[in-house]
Amino acid sequence: MRTRTFLAALSTFALVGILASCGGTKPASGPNLSAAQAKYPGYSLADYTAGQALYAANCGRCHPAYAPASHTEEQWAMWVPKMVPKANKKAGTVAIDEAGQEQIVRYLYAASH
Ligand code: HEC
Repeated sequence: MRTRTFLAALSTFALVGILASCGGTKPASGPNLSAAQAKYPGYSLADYTAGQALYAANCGRCHPAYAPASHTEEQWAMWVPKMVPKANKKAGTVAIDEAGQEQIVRYLYAASH
């Protein structure tokens, strides 16, 4: 029990740390968690960080990783599913599975609202 709580706290600090360090290097807009939660109940900072990491690792390998606000929600809904197979092919593995694809879509929403 205690160990679990401690580990949960520790990973939260780690996530916040990662997020804070990212914030210093790029001018990306921060997460709008309340907007994302209104659309995706239960959406958390951990979801945001996971989506952001997947996006950063896979979506800037052929063209720049477009800013979340560069495309509308409808455009992302069209492009992300179209691009995921390309990204997986490029990675040579399933770097983005179905859940990961959804995480990216939600990250883009949270980062642009
Ligand atoms: C293997 C190379 C490759 C990877 C990896 C890749 N893309 Fe693309 N992307 C392209 C190419 C090529 C186009 C040009 C349009 C087309 O192919 O239909 C494109 C176009 C786009 C566009 C349209 C840009 C515009 O003109 O508005 C978006 C948005 C986009 N990609 C998002 C993503 C996202 C999100 C990911 C990660 C899941 C990703 N891309 C990963 C190759 C890639």
